[in-house]
Amino acid sequence: MSRRRQIYEGKAKILYEGPEPGTIIQYFKDDATAFNAQKKGTINGKGVINNRISEHVFTRLAHIGIPTHFIRRLNMREQLVRQCEIIPIEVVVRNVAAGSISKRLGIEEGEPLPHTLIEYYYKDDALGDPLIAEEHIACFNWASNEEMQDIAAMAIRVNDFMCGMFAAIDIRLIDFKLEFGRIYDGDYSRVILADEISPDGCRLWDMKTGEKLDKDRFRRDLGGESEAYQEVARRLGLLQGDD
Ligand code: C5P
Repeated sequence: MSRRRQIYEGKAKILYEGPEPGTIIQYFKDDATAFNAQKKGTINGKGVINNRISEHVFTRLAHIGIPTHFIRRLNMREQLVRQCEIIPIEVVVRNVAAGSISKRLGIEEGEPLPHTLIEYYYKDDALGDPLIAEEHIACFNWASNEEMQDIAAMAIRVNDFMCGMFAAIDIRLIDFKLEFGRIYDGDYSRVILADEISPDGCRLWDMKTGEKLDKDRFRRDLGGESEAYQEVARRLGLLQGDD
């Protein structure tokens, strides 16, 4: 790990300089945080599982034409990704009410939403990632109108794909968070899907029992978080074979 220059250490990942210009190595830690890092802990083996799950999802999204930062997985905890300029917006897609929307608007958890909702949050730890409107994004020039159109279109496609992917393994996709980045090609730039997609940033409920198979097990002290993450990986067919 120490052989490379560290660029950034986040709550669940460390970013290192990649082997070629324009690349970055994402290292997945076992550290878990919740409630804007007020709650801290570790989930044994989470980094390994999230690296695999994120590789799987990003690869499958690339197959349906979603541009992503993912290049290849390097080892158990690391993946090589394209360097991009992260757009400071967390994009949350919701199919069913849970978490902050239930609290904010008094909608019972588990209540299906009349239609899929996309919400935007300003990515700023010190401010606690506040909910924002598209008007704020335009006003403060965090992303252009064209970029926002691409982001919303990609978020819907990712949701459609992931709803099907998880439904096929008896998991209900309640909601999830995406992050996007910009890559430059001369004067031109385009938006790609970045960060990770894993049970850290999704709500995944067992279709039959309603059991939570995601980070809410940690947030809500339900226990069995490692087992839940492993169960998602197992159902996706990712646990057989070593590497
Ligand atoms: O907390 P909230 O209900 O707004 O979260 C919605 C979804 O976005 C959840 O799946 C949660 O895991 C994810 N999320 C995230 N990172 C954040 C905020 C939310 O991954 N900072």
